[in-house]
Amino acid sequence: MTDAAPRIVVLVSGRGSNLGALLDAGLPVVHVVSNRPQAGGLALAARHAVTSTVVDHAAFPSREAFDSALAAAIDAHAPTLVVLAGFMRVLGDPFVQRYAGRLVNIHPSLLPAFTGLHTHRRALDAGVRLHGCTVHFVTPTLDHGPVIAQAVVPVLPDDTEDTLAARVLEQEHRLYPAAVRWCLEGRVRVDGLRVHVRGAEFPAFGRCVPSPA
Ligand code: GAR
Repeated sequence: MTDAAPRIVVLVSGRGSNLGALLDAGLPVVHVVSNRPQAGGLALAARHAVTSTVVDHAAFPSREAFDSALAAAIDAHAPTLVVLAGFMRVLGDPFVQRYAGRLVNIHPSLLPAFTGLHTHRRALDAGVRLHGCTVHFVTPTLDHGPVIAQAVVPVLPDDTEDTLAARVLEQEHRLYPAAVRWCLEGRVRVDGLRVHVRGAEFPAFGRCVPSPA
């Protein structure tokens, strides 16, 4: 990150609960962009007096045209960090390269397991005992960028897709603000696929959660 005051632009497609966690943590979100006009994240931004833009993917003839409009909406707010929070469009290589090293995502699985969609159903079907979420830098290969942090939850015998999703989401709301803050504070160094975080309190995320009350 630069020495300038940090500025975050958040990209959403849906309800925006991770956006809410970032805002509640007091992170410097200066603008929100959604590809869906009805996204709940837009109303949430408004309630926090954060401005927003809709770049509706359906209005563009190609991914390239959409990505260009998206980049223009982002760049108008000069962010130091671009944060994907439930943003459900695949981004093209030129877009990803443009924000290399300052584009982060949260994914609802322990990557590299369960890239893509329906991660909770697939975790149940696979019979794994541990599941969770991952914050990572975005690279051109979908859901494969360097891992900044992960939170782990148990998979319980009577879990449904919904109960497991809720347990993971609770951890997303803890993990994402912490990891984004580490990035803003310049504590994160990338070395190939390995990420080193200076002074991060990893024990908080290094055990099965939810932790005892
Ligand atoms: C979150 O679970 C996030 O991890 C997931 O979408 C949900 C958005 O919820 N993201 C992806 O699946 C990205 N591939 P939210 O809109 O309430 O933050």
